[in-house]
Amino acid sequence: MATITGPLSGDAKNTVAEALQGALVDLVDLSLVAKQMHWNIVGHNFRPIHLQLDELVALAREHADTVAERAAALGINPDGRSATLGRSTKISQPESGWIEDGKVVATMTDILEGVGRRMRERIEATDEPDKSTQDLFIRIAQDIDKERWMFQAQR
Ligand SMILES: [Fe+2]
Repeated sequence: MATITGPLSGDAKNTVAEALQGALVDLVDLSLVAKQMHWNIVGHNFRPIHLQLDELVALAREHADTVAERAAALGINPDGRSATLGRSTKISQPESGWIEDGKVVATMTDILEGVGRRMRERIEATDEPDKSTQDLFIRIAQDIDKERWMFQAQR
């Protein structure tokens, strides 16, 4: 079987692998949680938030793909399996059933705050081992901050 080699090895590779896998889990689960709210939101502000959530889903999926492919390019196996997500996600799951629009805004603001904080930790962690991966995290953090702002502004 072919194996993929990359420029990193040892501790540097392990650090980058942990950061990329953590980001992948965050981004895939962010897309799932945003879809859950997209489907279950109720309230006077249903329509703009329903649509806003789908924009967030698209953004999270795009970044998840970039993160996973960055891992593969470095010879690191991305793991996006549902069981892995369930075991390792740090995003607290929304309640089942309909969710009031105000609760959606508050919950999504909190979730994006957490994802943004962890993305910053990954920026720090990858500063030494791999600046190219760090650059990816910096761009993702910018988008997550923007999304967090646009939900927080509706509180
Ligand atoms: Fe939809």
